[in-house]
Amino acid sequence: MKRSILTHLTAPVQLGAIVLLLGSNLYIGLAQDNGASQVWVAPSRAARKSNPITADTPSIAKGKDLYVAACFPCHGPGGKGDGPVAGTLERNGVRVRPGNLSDPKLWQETDGALFWKLTEGKTPMPSWGETLSEEQRWTIINYVRTLSSKTDKTDKTDKPQETAKTETKP
Ligand code: HEC
Repeated sequence: MKRSILTHLTAPVQLGAIVLLLGSNLYIGLAQDNGASQVWVAPSRAARKSNPITADTPSIAKGKDLYVAACFPCHGPGGKGDGPVAGTLERNGVRVRPGNLSDPKLWQETDGALFWKLTEGKTPMPSWGETLSEEQRWTIINYVRTLSSKTDKTDKTDKPQETAKTETKP
């Protein structure tokens, strides 16, 4: 008697465990997918913060020292994401590359947005909010800005002139 009750109980429990396992695998799969393909966007409130540190020569020099100490291992000497440990990084078992800080596209982001990313981090990139002071983080951004050229692709002067549409009715 006791035996049959147990087997009755264990069957649904086992099934439950299998469902849970499948469920968590699915969840991990989704999380990995998101982690690998999603664009990293700073919240707009954070992006509106302006850089209180003037990007003058001493600030850029200080920023470079901090960059070499903290960011270089992953982002590399020119910010291209080719630092000595760049090839070993992963998130949830999926390989990730460090962002390319020499890409002119970085200028589409405000200093505030970059500041937020440094502060928060995103695995495997560490969060620097506790390791580096606010001033140090803004200073690093001043240096990072020197790694990419500011090409203004949105310049209106290059825009081809719109030709007026002449519609001829049949
Ligand atoms: C352990 C490796 C590692 C270190 C150290 C590191 N990063 Fe990163 N960083 C990454 C990875 C990986 C990403 C890509 C994250 C993503 O989008 O998935 C990234 C992304 C970024 C981005 C976003 C680029 C973009 O296109 O959105 C910025 C900015 C950045 N890092 C700056 C820094 C700075 C500045 C430092 C030093 C204070 C630093 N990182 C240190 C690994 C690192």
